[in-house]
Amino acid sequence: MDVSLARRNLGLILALMLFVMIPTAKAQVQRDSLAPTPPMGWNSWNKFACNVSEDLIKSVADAIATNGMKDAGYQYVLIDDCWQVSRDENGNIVADPQRFPSGIKALADYVHSKGLKFGLYSDAGTKTCAGRPGSQGHEYQDALQYARWGADYLKYDWCNTGTRNAEEAYATMSNALLATGRPIVLSICEWGKNKAWLWGKGIGNLWRTTGDISDHWSTQKKWPDGSCCQLGMVEIVDLQADLWAFSGPGHWNDPDMLEVGNGGMTTEEYRSHFSFWAILAAPLIAGNDVRSMTPEINEILTNKEVVAVDQDALGHQGRRVGKNGDQEIWSRPLSDGSRAVILFNRGATPTEVAVSWTQLAYPEHLPASVRDLWTHKDLGKFTGSFSSKVPSHGVVMVKVLP
Ligand code: GLA
Repeated sequence: MDVSLARRNLGLILALMLFVMIPTAKAQVQRDSLAPTPPMGWNSWNKFACNVSEDLIKSVADAIATNGMKDAGYQYVLIDDCWQVSRDENGNIVADPQRFPSGIKALADYVHSKGLKFGLYSDAGTKTCAGRPGSQGHEYQDALQYARWGADYLKYDWCNTGTRNAEEAYATMSNALLATGRPIVLSICEWGKNKAWLWGKGIGNLWRTTGDISDHWSTQKKWPDGSCCQLGMVEIVDLQADLWAFSGPGHWNDPDMLEVGNGGMTTEEYRSHFSFWAILAAPLIAGNDVRSMTPEINEILTNKEVVAVDQDALGHQGRRVGKNGDQEIWSRPLSDGSRAVILFNRGATPTEVAVSWTQLAYPEHLPASVRDLWTHKDLGKFTGSFSSKVPSHGVVMVKVLP
């Protein structure tokens, strides 16, 4: 082959490569742009499981719009498993006509009329975890249906997927959603089984990192089917410690939905739970009955200073920077140059916990103001370190600003 022909062939090959690569790059930009900060909202599963209906979803949307949650940033109202019952003769997914007599479109319209966004759940396998029809083989058809109904968010589960390749399965649904032209956040829910943090960026906006959370501080209880083991809140936190590098604007580690207010932990423990989700840049998806929560639980979910840490524009996930037995220090760099810091006491008795500036990667001589994000008080200027008494199973969460 003469040189000019070889050059022309090379040019053609390069042009072809660009042609193939550009849509992928474009898809990535679109996908990441759908969740510049971790999504905030409410999901039916943790409290209501399969007991979902249009009445429930409407009354939850009413509550979120009026109880301070919308003002605090909660946006998505999400129906989890069990809204779907079958497929019609054309393969279209059918919602439960008893529980959703007005249809999903009318329900999405209602949620939107409250200034909120609406989301649904499906599964990459033949059936959902609760045995309802999954989306395998119907991805484009389902995505189009969700878009026509007005969905803004899809949680996509991993039950009954057989030997499917997870990256391929989630990419198929991600592309199907993008192809509808409607912006729809994609929540990857494969429980960390296929390490979605290694491939999820550009495919989903958030990915579960663990099995399901249970409403306990800590537990090693077996699941009803005898398999090991349920995860309490602290086991989930421990599993996040090494994943911080994978998270960032548009693509977040998801340590599962909140249990705050569901009754299995003390108020102190729920405050710790919420503080950790914020320092971890986790999606804040409430999972309690927000129509009837106590003022203490409402105050936790709507603490604007803690929510601001979660939603910080830098999008850096916090990490553990100190551990001494039951005492831990977690730190998260924020966009104004400050650090959000958690002094954590896992132990059974109150104890003094100290953070040094070295742990925060600040020079020791640097004076910095410290503000308590739960009492909403400025605690003064400190140099080199800060310490505070921390209750059992509690946190002191501060912002350290040089
Ligand atoms: C899985 C998910 C849960 C929930 C249920 C629904 O267990 O991890 O979050 O969606 O399925 O069946």
